[in-house]
Amino acid sequence: MTGFLGRLAADHVRAGDPTGWFEPLYASGATVPWDVPQASAHLRAHPLPPGDGRRALVVGCGPGRDAEHIAAAGYATTAFDISPTAIDLARSRHPSTAVDYVVADLLAPPPEWHQAFDLVLESNNIQALPRPIRAAAIAAVGSFVAPGGTLLVLAAASVTGDPEGPPWPLTSAEMASFAVDGLRLLSLTQTAAPDSRLNTRWKATLTR
Ligand SMILES: C[S@@+](CC[C@H](N)C(=O)[O-])C[C@H]1O[C@@H](n2cnc3c(N)ncnc32)[C@H](O)[C@@H]1O
Repeated sequence: MTGFLGRLAADHVRAGDPTGWFEPLYASGATVPWDVPQASAHLRAHPLPPGDGRRALVVGCGPGRDAEHIAAAGYATTAFDISPTAIDLARSRHPSTAVDYVVADLLAPPPEWHQAFDLVLESNNIQALPRPIRAAAIAAVGSFVAPGGTLLVLAAASVTGDPEGPPWPLTSAEMASFAVDGLRLLSLTQTAAPDSRLNTRWKATLTR
């Protein structure tokens, strides 16, 4: 990807700080491409069972639109991001929110989140991380899922145009690699998303 975001990401990846570009990006006030008015169309198209107060965790929540969608389905929702500015933005966008917005790092999460959530959403975050740190990030996502819980993974499978990331689409091997440490794949689909630069999309559901 070219432009400010692409240069910022490339500079940080080159400097060995592959997650260090998100905070300066949000803090710059630049419009990030994933800051759209509604929850992800792919999340909205996924039938969520009523939460009935069960716990949900939204990984890399950004400005919070997906977290608000999940909370509205009745889940006691925690949502986290590595960027303090993104968390401030999520809180200010949703002043009456029931979501607990938290600054945290997927690669060093709070120990009490281990297998603590009935629903975990990973949407479009792993694809923004360079390949060498993905195995650890994927394992961390899976570690949040409680016994009997569900992990929903939404991700780019391919992009059109400029092949320089981010995003760096997930391979089928990376999608399969969510199914470790007692997690098993319930479904894995790849669908066309012709209106988007991320022109094919993965959706996986897993349980433990
Ligand atoms: C491409 S954006 C996607 C945001 C959101 N999930 C969505 O689909 O709109 C990636 C998000 O992950 C966050 N992020 C990146 N690395 C992270 C980490 N190690 N821990 C927590 N959040 C992280 C970024 O700050 C950013 O908000």
